[in-house]
Amino acid sequence: MGPVGAVVGGGQLARMMAEPAAALQIRLRALVEAADGAAAQVLPDSPVGTPKDIADLRGLVTGADVLTFEHEHVPGDHLRALQAEGVSVQPGPDALSCAQDKLHMRTRLGELGVPCPRWARIDSPADLESFAEQVGWPVIVKTPVGGYDGKGVRVVSSAVEISDWMADGGPLLAEEKVPFVRELAALVARRPSGEMRSWAVVETIQRDGVCAEVVSPAPGLEPGLAEQAEEIARTVAEGVGVTGVLAVEMFATAEGVVVNELAMRPHNSGHFSIDGSVTSQFEQHLRAVLDLPLGDTAATAPWAVMINLLGSDLEDPSTAYPALMARYPEAKVHLYGKAVRPGRKLGHVTVTGDDLATCREKATAAVAILRGENPSEEQR
Ligand SMILES: Nc1ncnc2c1ncn2[C@@H]1O[C@H](COP(=O)(O)OP(=O)(O)O)[C@@H](O)[C@H]1O
Ligand SMILES: [Mg+2]
Repeated sequence: MGPVGAVVGGGQLARMMAEPAAALQIRLRALVEAADGAAAQVLPDSPVGTPKDIADLRGLVTGADVLTFEHEHVPGDHLRALQAEGVSVQPGPDALSCAQDKLHMRTRLGELGVPCPRWARIDSPADLESFAEQVGWPVIVKTPVGGYDGKGVRVVSSAVEISDWMADGGPLLAEEKVPFVRELAALVARRPSGEMRSWAVVETIQRDGVCAEVVSPAPGLEPGLAEQAEEIARTVAEGVGVTGVLAVEMFATAEGVVVNELAMRPHNSGHFSIDGSVTSQFEQHLRAVLDLPLGDTAATAPWAVMINLLGSDLEDPSTAYPALMARYPEAKVHLYGKAVRPGRKLGHVTVTGDDLATCREKATAAVAILRGENPSEEQR
């Protein structure tokens, strides 16, 4: 009947794993936050619960061949206990800890000799002031745990601006504000047995800290930089012992690349691969965590542009399908089954083709239709 996969998390990433799981006859179930969420809608065998409760994790993994994740907020002690009980946890708790805590991540990357922005652990306003004396204001300050989509990241010009975080207690991460030319991401998948395959390095564009757009491959990327970025991803995957997909967010500067952060799961920067690669990041993640031979990561077209649908004026963006599909038959639309809220990641559109500008134009226009913006007369 095929392998059984268990995934922690009920959002769009688990939902997008469902499609290749169905094709490969992998029985996938998710530990979900709500019975009607993005993943539960398409994975019928999905219990509601929380990974903070080991009983919920035990229920999820009963009879499963592997436990994997769509987010990293899972207590390491629970995962170690499950491993001791014979559960295959992929990625394992030690690897995952580098994606859970940005301070720990910076320490590990330093040990691996991977280039990073200058950073410091901040326990007091005085710590931040002395760090700023070295790198200059403004400084980037991050909450080490639990941030996503720019929540937990601030650009600050004085210690007062983080007094609320300081009052919460616990250390913070300070980083120099990197004068980046653009942001890149390198994705690689690694099996427990060690095989690795990477996709071409992509360019990502964040707006208000949220991924808005991804172009594959990163336009005009110097071969040396591409090689450096891929090499960093492989070094981290191997050095930390990652299994499954690893996404390494990076800043390209005039001098080279430095690592921003890590994710050990399919990542927004890899959504293009569903429609733009022989093997998508979601299929590859499943293959990797089940220790199956990895798929070809070659591009199926010269360019792929992925644009996120972040909020919509429509109550239900799928009501725009007739207009969108008539106008852009080449657009690949992915909606996540989430209720509309301002700025919320509701879906994405990918367009692949021979001409980058055309792909970007069409993907942008298709997303505008999903947002409820009327195409102008001349566009029609
Ligand atoms: N040290 C930095 N220098 C300049 N920009 C940064 C720095 N760190 C983060 N950013 C900006 O903020 C965005 C979100 O930061 P990140 O650490 O990736 O947080 P999240 O976990 O929310 O994705 C980055 O994609 C980048 O645009
Ligand atoms: Mg990020």
